[in-house]
Amino acid sequence: MRLALFGPPGSGKGTQASILKDRHSLEHLSTGNMLRAARDAGTAVGLEAKRYLDQGELVPDGIVWKIAREALVECGFDDFVLDGFPRTLRQAEWLDRDIQRAGGGLKVISLEVSDNVILKRLSKRRIHRVTGEVYHLENNPPPDDVDPADLIQRADDKPQAVRLRLEVYERETAPIKDHYTRLGALIEVDGAGDVQTVAGRIAQALSS
Ligand code: AP5
Repeated sequence: MRLALFGPPGSGKGTQASILKDRHSLEHLSTGNMLRAARDAGTAVGLEAKRYLDQGELVPDGIVWKIAREALVECGFDDFVLDGFPRTLRQAEWLDRDIQRAGGGLKVISLEVSDNVILKRLSKRRIHRVTGEVYHLENNPPPDDVDPADLIQRADDKPQAVRLRLEVYERETAPIKDHYTRLGALIEVDGAGDVQTVAGRIAQALSS
């Protein structure tokens, strides 16, 4: 199975990718997580990516493709769910070329969510600094045994960075929808509603 989850920041790509990973035994390939891990480890790639990540700008295509491709090669270009990749037409074309060579069949699930919902989700998202678990202070609160001091807010979840990320999404990333519609690979799913409701819609779309 070859899947990519597509949608604006906060549309639920990471949350749904994690469910799909468990349900279909897939590798969850999140370029955002890979870049943040590289930044936090202080690698050369991470240091180059840091200022883009923290401000909410896209990291240059060449850097992202290098880490995404390494992860794809590692899973043999199969049984993966991409989360946050591709994000530009150039990235999409590079990915398509390799997927075609591997046998094709990429499905791109586009999560449709309004800006209002996105702002509510991102302002209250918190990440556990040790486990990496993603919570929402209201919709998906951490269990009682989690120490609030261990919950962090991503630098790019501050209001100014979120506004920039939404602009960047509209300008650079949204055009990919037309690209995958033309290829017959795009599946639009309503991303509003609770996590399990959205997961049910995705499961239904994939089985039909
Ligand atoms: P990345 O980490 O990919 O961030 P993003 O795309 O902006 O998406 P988010 O992680 O913010 O949101 P999400 O859609 O995964 O939502 P989530 O499930 O967490 O990228 C970060 C940065 O890395 C980019 O800005 C860029 O700099 C760089 N980058 C990454 N990939 C790149 C690429 N390909 N090219 C160039 N640069 C790249 O949910 C959000 C919140 O809502 C959570 O709190 C969650 O608990 C809650 N929630 C989720 N679903 C629901 C629901 N149904 N109901 C209620 N609450 C929900």
